[in-house]
Amino acid sequence: MSATAPRRIEDLRVDGDRLWSRIVELGEIGAIEGPNGEHGNARLALTDADREGRDLVVGWMHDLGLDVGIDAIGNVIATRPGTDPTAAPVMTGSHIDTVATGGRFDGNLGVLAGLEVIETLEQHGIATRHPISVAFFTDEEGARFAPDMLGSFVYVGGMALEAALDITAVDDGARLGDELLRIGYAGALPCPAASAPAAYVELHIEQGPILEDEGITIGVVEGVQGISWTEVNITGRSAHAGTTPMRLRRDPAYAAAAIITFVRDLTRTYGGAQVATVGRVEVRPNLVNVVPSTATIAVDLRNTDDDVLVRAERDLAAEIEWLQDAEHVTITTRSLARFEPVEFDPDTIDLVERTAERLGYSTRRMPSGAGHDAQMLARVCPTAMIFTPSVNGLSHNIAEYTEPADITAGANVLLQTILTLAGTPDDAVGGSERDRLAE
Ligand code: GLV
Ligand code: MN
Ligand code: MN
Repeated sequence: MSATAPRRIEDLRVDGDRLWSRIVELGEIGAIEGPNGEHGNARLALTDADREGRDLVVGWMHDLGLDVGIDAIGNVIATRPGTDPTAAPVMTGSHIDTVATGGRFDGNLGVLAGLEVIETLEQHGIATRHPISVAFFTDEEGARFAPDMLGSFVYVGGMALEAALDITAVDDGARLGDELLRIGYAGALPCPAASAPAAYVELHIEQGPILEDEGITIGVVEGVQGISWTEVNITGRSAHAGTTPMRLRRDPAYAAAAIITFVRDLTRTYGGAQVATVGRVEVRPNLVNVVPSTATIAVDLRNTDDDVLVRAERDLAAEIEWLQDAEHVTITTRSLARFEPVEFDPDTIDLVERTAERLGYSTRRMPSGAGHDAQMLARVCPTAMIFTPSVNGLSHNIAEYTEPADITAGANVLLQTILTLAGTPDDAVGGSERDRLAE
């Protein structure tokens, strides 16, 4: 390792190969292969695979000499000290849990790029005034325990710890708190955190098609759209498929299908930014010749405009009301997640944009369609995000891929943004970019 800094801090760059190797190595844990040799990941939150992934990343954190803390919801926060004992850490990070058919980049990139930033500073012997923390937050995906962004939500005080620990898994009914203990990640640090970071910047893949479509390298993220998840439980009456006249049926599968069609039609009526998805459908007893007794679906509605999102929720509720009478089924609903649209900090957004432009990358401002831990951190500190392109716009898909050159570009923007925010040791107290932003 060289301890020589480049002549100017502005010229410092990450080692893209080192970052890529870590992405590949972490991707071996919970690896799933697609029919065309795609390398996907299945590391649902708090499973054995998640534990293995956590252990690997925590090992890397220790190798880098970081002070590793685990909080009561299992968030892992590793910190490199700064020179100013009074300065709060500049934080970066993301998540390492994945959906069951996920890729190697979603979340993992942000965490491993954070470690790469630290290793670059170590390698060149560069100190910063603010400490730098790299975090990975528990259960960002919400695929096993709803809501999504759960660990960061509790971290910022958005949800009570006890309530979060009592959430049960959609797949096997396991209690979140028990799973945390089982995998050894029920930590001692308080959650919500005792104090807020000075700033939070997260690097993430775009997970959509826009950057690739426009040939742009860096997305400067201005905010995250609102998210509404509703579980819909429908109870009808199990009956014989051959003997039961259609007029006498109480068919929850039919009601579920009507809701699925309804929300799709709603996006056409609303147009604009409205999206709607039903990604979870469970019918019982799920047999060819039995009118089902129950159906459970989960509806995901999103919009950048909260008023429109509220209207979509009301329309869905009215449709459900109507269906109960029309189909003689009983329908109950449960909110799994509800987050308003979030706008990031204008000065931190500007800094990301200026930094990317200074490094010579093409940029575009954009909202995020996906949920991110950054939207939770934005509640407690100045926050922004950096996006890199996703090949074919794919994510939550084992074919998810981002070109190594784009990974390196994003990590360099992260490095230089963090360096500006964290300041140099000889910054007068109160004189770094971070302090100016905080004013
Ligand atoms: C998380 O990935 C979400 O957008 O739901
Ligand atoms: Mn993610
Ligand atoms: Mn995801």
